[in-house]
Amino acid sequence: MKITPPGTLGAALIDVLARTECPALTSRRARRSERAGAPQDPIVWREAVGSNVVDVDGNVYVDLTAGFGVAALGHRPPAVVEAIREQSGRLLHALGDVYPSDVKIELLERLAAFSGIPEARVILGSHGADAVEVALKTAVLHTGKPGVLAFEGGYHGLSHGPLAICGYQPAFRTPFAAQLNPHVVFAPYPAPTDTVAGAMTRVRDAYHHARERGIEIGAIVIEPMLGRGGVIAPPEGFLGELADLAREIGALLVIDEIFTGLHRTGPRLLSREAGVEADILCLGKALGGGLPISACIAREEIMASWGAPGGEAIHTATFLGHPLACAAALATLDELEGLHLGAIVTRTGRALLEALRDRLADTPLVTDVRGRGLAIGVELTTGAHVLRVMRRLLERGYLVVPAAPDASVLQIAPPLVIEEELVLGFVDVLAEVLAIEAGREG
Ligand SMILES: Cc1ncc(COP(=O)(O)O)c(C=O)c1O
Repeated sequence: MKITPPGTLGAALIDVLARTECPALTSRRARRSERAGAPQDPIVWREAVGSNVVDVDGNVYVDLTAGFGVAALGHRPPAVVEAIREQSGRLLHALGDVYPSDVKIELLERLAAFSGIPEARVILGSHGADAVEVALKTAVLHTGKPGVLAFEGGYHGLSHGPLAICGYQPAFRTPFAAQLNPHVVFAPYPAPTDTVAGAMTRVRDAYHHARERGIEIGAIVIEPMLGRGGVIAPPEGFLGELADLAREIGALLVIDEIFTGLHRTGPRLLSREAGVEADILCLGKALGGGLPISACIAREEIMASWGAPGGEAIHTATFLGHPLACAAALATLDELEGLHLGAIVTRTGRALLEALRDRLADTPLVTDVRGRGLAIGVELTTGAHVLRVMRRLLERGYLVVPAAPDASVLQIAPPLVIEEELVLGFVDVLAEVLAIEAGREG
């Protein structure tokens, strides 16, 4: 570290940010800062490569966020950069669903195979919420039922479709409630220690509650492990029972693997590992290797519900299947498979989890250390502790983000290619920072 973050150039840019960005974001930082009793000014990124980020003042950080889970291969992975360079020399933009690019077609074929869904059909989007939005549309077309059963704590993006099923925090929905799908019910997301029977009883209660209100459930939407909601995995066997319930009530099971998919949690999709095949699978984040692209994938018989809409494509977008993003996604999928990252993630993730549990076992502020692969959460007693710890980590050159609605979880989700030494080095620093934080309280 050259200078205490946000640094001189960083501070000047933050002033500009405060004058130009939506004021809510600046005041959110101020509120966080007040709550934590520590500054929450951002740093300003200038460049990033591999697992490192450099700010405008030249400070170098280890990125334990992978840029919200996007940089699975690290930042600027050479194969992806090369694919973008090559593609940009040929074609930047095509005609979406009318006259698509060759790379878009190649990617559709690749994603269909990757998904393992028989006779898979794919609709691309530009970000995660797009994929969830099209999943919701597909479910209502297929079942004729507009209702959705979603989960408290679940996060699926913030455009109007996904926002209606956002269980992360009611406050996200409230200002827009009048514009959102009213046919939504929420069930509690099960804790790992819940019994499957108990968790399913609560899901069935939510379903019956919906029926009493005249809501016909056409989709059950779930993250196989909460990411932003606090890095929480349901008990083993729960997803399978949920799939059975979906079949029983004539609803489609939409599995949102936008955060967990593409090897974040290990060699296989979490839903696959649970022996469950999604009716509709959503992927995003890491897919574009840093460029925005997402995918909604389902069996042909389900996607056929889009029917023949009288000559108009009733779901499309100007930038649908953007050639640069498609080329980047193809290179990303090549790399993810070629590098055997699934197995590497399992190894690095296990070493990190064990080291965290070992080093933090006697730290009074830590209430839980959990996760799968390289999606790990360290839960502290309060969100204020997390915000202060985050700041101290930033000052020592580590980037992490908070998870859970009360920010009580430090989320550790580094690039999948991160060296084991680097993450184990972080554990020592975290232990020190937590000891300081505990001392502050004591
Ligand atoms: C599980 C999950 N689904 C959907 C989304 C929304 O993706 P995006 O922010 O790209 O729209 C996110 C983003 O964090 C996510 O974690």
